[in-house]
Amino acid sequence: MPHRKHLINQYIEEGSIGVEIGVWTGEFTNLIISSKNIKKLYALDPWISQPKYPGRWYGGKHPKFKNTKMDGVYENVKKRFKDNKNVHLLRDYSTHICKHIKVNELDWAYIDGNHSCEFVTEDLENCRKLVKNGGYLLCDDYHWKDPQANGGPKKAIQHFCKKYNLPLKVIKTQAVIKNIK
Ligand SMILES: C[S@@+](CC[C@H](N)C(=O)[O-])C[C@H]1O[C@@H](n2cnc3c(N)ncnc32)[C@H](O)[C@@H]1O
Repeated sequence: MPHRKHLINQYIEEGSIGVEIGVWTGEFTNLIISSKNIKKLYALDPWISQPKYPGRWYGGKHPKFKNTKMDGVYENVKKRFKDNKNVHLLRDYSTHICKHIKVNELDWAYIDGNHSCEFVTEDLENCRKLVKNGGYLLCDDYHWKDPQANGGPKKAIQHFCKKYNLPLKVIKTQAVIKNIK
């Protein structure tokens, strides 16, 4: 998708440190590291089936992915990035992100994990602390919704930007928030 490439070109700098929340097979991780010389990229995902979300890729029942074994996806991601010492895989839920990354350690965060409003809100709140002043909070699937999402990323992002009075830019499916603090 050209707008995701644009996002990398515009908001992810050479030599930066960032996190991708929600990695799946590592397609976007790969696009980032093949576009920019990244100092450190934390790639965080629990790589676990979550049957309570039957309609989602990781729910175990999605027609396209229903035979997907998450241990296998994780093993393939490990293989995919084994030669890149700057990619650090974190197999965990994003709710625990602050155990792994220090406050103000990051230049940017790409939020693409659980898209339910309450999870996106938690990811934004945590990443606000971990991303330094003037860095970027980037979110995928701004307009995405499903019956369990309670308004999804859009509701979470709009509420968050209003709460902290932060500028929001939407580029097709991608949201860009400058983390002024
Ligand atoms: C849409 S995929 C990510 C796609 C990837 N960012 C890309 O563009 O190639 C969503 C991922 O979020 C992960 N996920 C689901 N719940 C999560 C959570 N609570 N914390 C972190 N990741 C989560 C899933 O395991 C799945 O791999």
